[in-house]
Amino acid sequence: MTTQQSSHRAIREISVRQVFGLDTDLTVPAFCDATEHVPEIDAAYHFNHDVTLAILAGFVQNRRVLIQGLHGTGKSTHIEQVAARLNWPCVRVNLDGHISRLDLVGKDTIVLREGRQVTEFQEGILPWALQQPMALIFDEYDAGRPDVMFVIQRILERNGHFMLLDQNRSIAPHADFRLFATANTLGLGNLNGLYHGTQSLNHAQLDRWNIVAALNYLQPEDEVQITAARVPQMDNEQGRQTIRKMVDLANLTRKGFEAGDISVLMSPRTVITWAENRQIFGDTGLAFRLSFLNKCDDAEKELIAEYYQRCFEQELPEAFVGTLQA
Ligand SMILES: Nc1ncnc2c1ncn2[C@@H]1O[C@H](COP(=O)(O)OP(=O)(O)O)[C@@H](O)[C@H]1O
Ligand SMILES: [Mg+2]
Repeated sequence: MTTQQSSHRAIREISVRQVFGLDTDLTVPAFCDATEHVPEIDAAYHFNHDVTLAILAGFVQNRRVLIQGLHGTGKSTHIEQVAARLNWPCVRVNLDGHISRLDLVGKDTIVLREGRQVTEFQEGILPWALQQPMALIFDEYDAGRPDVMFVIQRILERNGHFMLLDQNRSIAPHADFRLFATANTLGLGNLNGLYHGTQSLNHAQLDRWNIVAALNYLQPEDEVQITAARVPQMDNEQGRQTIRKMVDLANLTRKGFEAGDISVLMSPRTVITWAENRQIFGDTGLAFRLSFLNKCDDAEKELIAEYYQRCFEQELPEAFVGTLQA
């Protein structure tokens, strides 16, 4: 990929095959040194081919990239881990219900100057990030409030200047400013009840993103590898066998969810938490209950306990709920 970067920082070409483990001869420019806000490298990170190429296009070609996918599939960390390897500073802003337009844009605040109270404009995160070599990631993009989405639309245009209305000042984005977003849903909002508080993104909103990449499930063997890397005590043949069953169970919940049998599904993040809790409690079944089953609706516990039985050939007490009531 050719670069559009025009920073004064030193740049070198890196091999995508070597750095990201992808099957391609592509090279991309990366900053030589890490500066403040560059995420730490997670050496165990496993890069998805298409999503990584999309994110690299975002960085190198200044494309606006939106990544959509179910929760816990690695959307946010994917961007962060690419940034870490390019030495690109990066901040994440979660757009869930709490963040307001003023948090983003900035507001007048009262400060003390030489003993006198004066009103001063304090820049919000958006103008601050816009003027630096910085990747700004909007997480939970589909949960943003309408006033916040309105502000974001204005900077989505490439080279779009940002007008600080209150200040009567126009801000030109830094040549190495980049914009990414992650969302659980796209246009559908909370159709299946899994993502409360999400809004439907309208077409005008989606149109402004140059690239939309999907990151749903990992290949089972990849998920096993990722989990084993997170819980090194299980990174051996026996441990991996157990993780394989855990991933099988997670995939049963995903199929069950798709078929409408259950209303929750086990994310890759929960598989990792389950493996970690298993180390703490030394008991796969107990850890399963504490990490996932107790979050499920009572009416669905029996079926989920049955999934467990199918994968581990072991009964959980929850499997008998129906029998006890009968
Ligand atoms: N490909 C991957 N390689 C290594 N760890 C991963 C991968 N995908 C997800 N994870 C881990 O799963 C967890 C959830 O990832 P996250 O990026 O927060 O998901 P999302 O933003 O999609 O909800 C994190 O702890 C992350 O480190
Ligand atoms: Mg996320």
